[in-house]
Amino acid sequence: MIGLFDRLSRPFLRALDPEDAHRLAIKALRYMPVSKTAADGGELAVRAFGLEFPNPVGLAAGFDKNAQVPDALLRLGFGFVEVGTITPRSQSGNPRPRLFRLESDHGVINRLGFNNEGAAAAHARLAARRNAGGIVGVNIGANRDSTDRIEDYARLIETFSTVASYFTVNVSSPNTPGLRDLQQAKALDELLARVMDARERTGGRAGLTPVLLKIAPDLTLPDLDDVVGVARKRGVDGMIIGNTTISRPGALRERERMREQGGLSGRPLFRLATRMLAETFVRTENAFPLIGAGGIDSGATAIAKIKAGATLLQLYTALVYRGVGVVTEIKNDLSRALQRGHRDSLAAMIGSDAAAITAETWPG
Ligand SMILES: Cc1cc2nc3c(=O)[nH]c(=O)nc-3n(C[C@H](O)[C@H](O)[C@H](O)COP(=O)(O)O)c2cc1C
Repeated sequence: MIGLFDRLSRPFLRALDPEDAHRLAIKALRYMPVSKTAADGGELAVRAFGLEFPNPVGLAAGFDKNAQVPDALLRLGFGFVEVGTITPRSQSGNPRPRLFRLESDHGVINRLGFNNEGAAAAHARLAARRNAGGIVGVNIGANRDSTDRIEDYARLIETFSTVASYFTVNVSSPNTPGLRDLQQAKALDELLARVMDARERTGGRAGLTPVLLKIAPDLTLPDLDDVVGVARKRGVDGMIIGNTTISRPGALRERERMREQGGLSGRPLFRLATRMLAETFVRTENAFPLIGAGGIDSGATAIAKIKAGATLLQLYTALVYRGVGVVTEIKNDLSRALQRGHRDSLAAMIGSDAAAITAETWPG
């Protein structure tokens, strides 16, 4: 049903203002029956952060900001869904228009600014589905007008600790002024110390909830050295590389649209994000697994991310241009790649190209 809806509605949704199209898509997922896609073959299963993922293809943060439809999204075939970014209090974000399609580049620029209904609303929804199963991560951020941003993260860990499969500490959105400064070594160290402390306090019998750190692809390599060093020292369970970029690659075709302020995602982000993933992989020395995000829209791009160092994957922008069918397509391609290579899991591929990628010229 949703597959048919997806195919019929994509041209229609693409004709709408992108934010209205997004709202309609969430509504459709809320009210239309979504039948479960075929179960994943065991060869796609991934164990990471102490969790058992049925397949490695996750939905990135920002699509289901208010945790309205995680179960419908899981039924579509995602191996995990990350809701949020959620801030303690609701906020409306930046003025519209704030979401732009770069059609001929298969990219998106957004400057939404953490528009969300706040922690209480999202928590109520997640509490109601607590026993539904499936991996649902909670991506957390600070309110724009917060006077103590680190306290915001610590509070959110406490609020969501019984309903989150994992947490993502988002310090990489370009649309909350100053937020990315939390990636600087001293601030990051204090933030992660407080976050881990909050997790320790709230960890129940089920054990500690994994905490992941999501970074910007725009960090310099010396900054990345610091970030990985602090992440290792504070014992995070993983990192997501990464968020949208404020850079504008030279090959962009939409010369007008590309001047909009905000974070760029989708195909034009792929090379930079994959380079940063490989750079992170060689620095982590297998201390923890990485999630690769940024421009995944096919089996080939998914496999490239895994070879650059990703244990798990996330996508968002490909849904706009390829529809939800892209998830099944990627999973089928991953299964076929395993069969061709006579391998029984993706593990052997992880990071196999990382060193070579870090030796290439910097993507411009
Ligand atoms: C419209 C939009 C909203 C987003 N909102 C968030 C967000 O709230 N929190 C976050 O961590 N990332 C957010 N992201 C970034 C995505 O999670 C992802 O890291 C990025 O888009 C790269 O993946 P992609 O190229 O597959 O879209 C957003 C992306 C888009 C396109």
